[in-house]
Amino acid sequence: MAISFLVSQPLCILLLFFFTTQILAQPAPSNSSTSFSCSVDAPPSCDTYVSYLAQPQFLSLGNISDLFGVSSLSITEASNLVSEETRLIAGQLLLVPITCGCTGNSYFSNITYEIKKGDNYYVVSINSFENLTNWHAVIDMNPTLDPTLLQIGVKVTFPLFCKCPSKMYSDNGVKHLITYVWQPNDDTFRVSSKFNVSPLDIVTANNNRNFTAAVGLPVVIPVSKLPALAQPKPHHGRNIFKQRWWFILVLSLGVF
Ligand SMILES: *[C@@H]1O[C@H](CO)[C@@H](O)[C@H](O)[C@H]1NC(C)=O
Ligand SMILES: *[C@@H]1O[C@H](CO)[C@@H](O)[C@H](O)[C@H]1NC(C)=O
Ligand SMILES: *[C@@H]1O[C@H](CO)[C@@H](O)[C@H](O)[C@H]1NC(C)=O
Ligand SMILES: *[C@@H]1O[C@H](CO)[C@@H](O)[C@H](O)[C@H]1NC(C)=O
Ligand SMILES: *[C@@H]1O[C@H](CO)[C@@H](O)[C@H](O)[C@H]1NC(C)=O
Repeated sequence: MAISFLVSQPLCILLLFFFTTQILAQPAPSNSSTSFSCSVDAPPSCDTYVSYLAQPQFLSLGNISDLFGVSSLSITEASNLVSEETRLIAGQLLLVPITCGCTGNSYFSNITYEIKKGDNYYVVSINSFENLTNWHAVIDMNPTLDPTLLQIGVKVTFPLFCKCPSKMYSDNGVKHLITYVWQPNDDTFRVSSKFNVSPLDIVTANNNRNFTAAVGLPVVIPVSKLPALAQPKPHHGRNIFKQRWWFILVLSLGVF
């Protein structure tokens, strides 16, 4: 009795598994993560982009240029901005050009960051780098540093997740795989319109990932050409001030 139960249970599970796999012939949404692992038929390194949201402590292109170690001009061009002097708005989407390469089993872009007061790997990863990396990857990339004994001014490599297109992507016209950190209000349609790609391509490139569970985590956006990001009209602070001044003058003259 006990023996037959023990024997039949795995059999039932096996049958059930067989049955359900037959029913669910199409790829079911999974919670598997995005793969940033190196593939054999992809170049060992490539020039690509990470997306970055302007944030209150980084509202000038100079700030973002300093953080990533790339020129303001290259961010201006990649992000479809009018000029390098553009004052950014918190939350504004930008594209930052990076060099991506295979280290160990994964693709990373090495960014050198100088430790400031109050920094640790976690805080810098989630705040300054907006989760384009995580502290585990930072520890692995800096084996000679003790993360609990960081001195101000020490240079740490922050490895950002990135990916070079394998032959399968190149054959399908995919030029870049942009790293994008999934935001709380995102859905595949919203993100696909930002980057001018199809929602299905985003889903496929991320292994049918459950994006609800991916908030705050990096994913890849496959693009055939660099998207022309929709940017707010440049804000000419001084002109608006002048107009307001005249408006106030006319109003007060009207009153008297
Ligand atoms: C993915 O789903 C499996 C069960 O379906 C669960 O055991 C696992 O913890 C999940 N992983 C994540 C990262 O949510
Ligand atoms: C950002 O740039 C401004 C000048 O454009 C500078 O005053 C400020 O200190 C910078 N912020 C950071 C966090 O580097
Ligand atoms: C990043 O740094 C690692 C460790 O120093 C190095 O092996 C790798 O080649 C670097 N990657 C790139 C793209 O420069
Ligand atoms: C997707 O993830 C969310 C949040 O973790 C979870 O509530 C939901 O059940 C998941 N959906 C699927 C289809 O696994
Ligand atoms: C980064 O991840 C942390 C921890 O998961 C989260 O609290 C934060 O909102 C994320 N930030 C961004 C910009 O996604």
